[in-house]
Amino acid sequence: MPYFCEIKKRLNEIKEKDEIIILAIETSCDETSAAVVKNGRIVLSNKISSQAELHRHYGGVVPEIASRKHVEAINPIIDEAMNEAGIGFDRLDGIGVTYGPGLVGALLVGLSTAKALAYALSLPLVGVDHIEGHISANYISHPELEPPFLCLVVSGGHTHLVWVKNYGDYKVVGMTRDDAAGEAFDKVARVLGLPYPGGPSIDSVAKKGNAQAIQFPRAYIDEDHFDFSFSGLKTAVINYLHNLKQRNEAYRIEDVAASFQQAVVDVLVSKTIKAAARFGLSKIAIAGGVAANSALRNCMSLQAQKHGYELFYPQPVFCTDNAAMIGCAAYYNLIHGKADDLYLNVEPSFSKITARYPQK
Ligand code: KG4
Ligand code: ZN
Repeated sequence: MPYFCEIKKRLNEIKEKDEIIILAIETSCDETSAAVVKNGRIVLSNKISSQAELHRHYGGVVPEIASRKHVEAINPIIDEAMNEAGIGFDRLDGIGVTYGPGLVGALLVGLSTAKALAYALSLPLVGVDHIEGHISANYISHPELEPPFLCLVVSGGHTHLVWVKNYGDYKVVGMTRDDAAGEAFDKVARVLGLPYPGGPSIDSVAKKGNAQAIQFPRAYIDEDHFDFSFSGLKTAVINYLHNLKQRNEAYRIEDVAASFQQAVVDVLVSKTIKAAARFGLSKIAIAGGVAANSALRNCMSLQAQKHGYELFYPQPVFCTDNAAMIGCAAYYNLIHGKADDLYLNVEPSFSKITARYPQK
């Protein structure tokens, strides 16, 4: 039977099944990951091979190196994920894969592998938007969570406030106008001489610092919109260090890290709480690598409790890039009949979630 006829049959069968198992693949940046996810929320395996050590020498991700390492890691990581899940390929109902946004060469490795598997196994291919994946990580850590809710997505490439109206139905209500929050962490860590990735380094050093030591700017904090800007803050940290160095004055890295982190957290928390009130949402979620930040989690918890919102955040392993979150998003796409054909291409800089922002 030709592939597309087989898929039509499979999609019809899926509607009747009460157990749907997806093999998911994520290769958008510097993590090669494969996961097996049952019914969108039960993670049977989630294997991650990180290249962070390799890119550390260069202070950031080198795209060509990332692609080459994905090629080496992808088949073994899929085998590991299938072995840990303890199932054969014949038990799968679909292949989920990140098709964008991300690094073009890195995405191509995952998508080509997913297409080959989908074709060889006659399984539906489900392309997943990376940002939708990050949001969906919350469904894994909180089986009771259902839309609608407000989600703050904070990663290395994105800072968005997303109103999750339903599965697959999103409205962006605010986003960064320049640097992403994670990007600011990475850049400030670099000028402080801390290792890549900068977020976890600053998080840990800041624990020994005074967050009130330096008053860095909090862009747009009192403005009546939900956009962010972190590039001025980054420049303020660089200027602060530069001035002290010129005057030969000492500074405590711990205090600079803690004060910078507090400035980022204050803006993220304040805008999120205000947006939840503006759009009448009672549930708030956070997602993406920066959602692993301890100060953000603490501060958001305090403010959510104070203002009467329910707060959700994924376990740290599901905050940073992983394939389980892609498997979760793929499940909701698949049960709503959204599968892709084998002409699906990577979308390095396009996200279906953010495409219509700003809305009228
Ligand atoms: O979601 P992610 O793994 O990849 C992207 O989609 O970008 O996010 C990576 C980003 C990096 O900028 C990293 O520094 C940041 O998340 N990050 C953190 C923490 N852990 C990772 N930032 C602040 N605190 C952390 N604990
Ligand atoms: Zn990510």
